Amino acid sequence: METKWIKSNEVEEGVRLLQAGEIIAMPTETVYGLAGDAMNDMAIRKIFEAKGRPSDNPLIVHIASIEQANMFVDSIPPVAKRLMDVFWPGALTIILPSNGRASSLVTAGLDSIGLRMPNHSAALELIRESGLGLAAPSANRSGRPSPTTAQHVADDLAGRIAGIVDGGPTGIGVESTVIDCTGDVVTILRPGGVTREEIEAVIGSVALDANLSDEEAAPKSPGMKYTHYAPTAPVFLVDGTREDLERVIEERQRVGRRIGALVFDEEPTLAEVTFSLGTSMEVAAQRLYDALRRFDETDVEEIYVNKIEPVGVALAVYNRLYKASGGKVVQPTKDA
Ligand code: TXA
Ligand code: MG
Repeated sequence: METKWIKSNEVEEGVRLLQAGEIIAMPTETVYGLAGDAMNDMAIRKIFEAKGRPSDNPLIVHIASIEQANMFVDSIPPVAKRLMDVFWPGALTIILPSNGRASSLVTAGLDSIGLRMPNHSAALELIRESGLGLAAPSANRSGRPSPTTAQHVADDLAGRIAGIVDGGPTGIGVESTVIDCTGDVVTILRPGGVTREEIEAVIGSVALDANLSDEEAAPKSPGMKYTHYAPTAPVFLVDGTREDLERVIEERQRVGRRIGALVFDEEPTLAEVTFSLGTSMEVAAQRLYDALRRFDETDVEEIYVNKIEPVGVALAVYNRLYKASGGKVVQPTKDA
């Protein structure tokens, strides 16, 4: 299939494709999404196929107004309404009881559904002009880092999807925060662009899903159980100082390994290949997936990065790095 390149100020072609049951990549403020009509089984099947995504992992549905939520849920609990009023459009996906009108493939058979209003003009235009709720997982092949540029999407999905709307690099760089409002306890299932602290300032204390504090526990957000965001070379988190990171890298270089490093400063010479994640966690979030993808264009054999303190936006960055590492943490002081 030929994948059409669509300018973000000329979305009519994208609208036409979506209405015809085709799937296209669209920019959002977090990462690029792979969009299709949430009520069309055929379109949703194409999304799972193009991504190679396991069918038990539900998709989130993108809408352009709070009123449009009524297409997919029968009622909105007050706490969810507060979150919508404050954080939409934005990087917050709210899980609510589904009214069953979305394709059952979207919800992977669950009786809940994730809704989000993206803060991106091209995405909102596609939703409004098509009149559809758009199911859209991140537009990467399953297991790869999420795409933050149209080129990342093309690298993974060219030839497999009908179009790519190019909106340039995304602003936030990590996915939305997923918050479960179906039970008595409001729970963050996936940390993301909206921080726990920002949410708690609005609705009071919320729980973190067990998998975010206890790495062994079974995750409730089905997507969280898969290895994700991983470059080909193994990633190791160094639980220690910047000097510990240098020492660990030197030791591995001494035994002949070619090393990649991610650093939270502008020091480009630490290892054979070093990518800077910048000096703020907001910038780290923007750069993270591009850096993880770029390691695959190099011949590094192992990748090292300092473990970071998981507060604010850094909770999402830490979570993605932890997933990329598959839980491989090096403790230099203990291992020495
Ligand atoms: O920022 C984002 O959220 C991006 C952009 C494109 O909007 N989308 C995205 O979608 O990251 P995806 O499919 O890659 O991640 C959605 C996450 C998955 O971990 C999935 O398991 C979870 O949300 N999820 C979706 N529906 C759910 C439900 N009903 N209950 C629990 N978790 C759900
Ligand atoms: Mg994803």
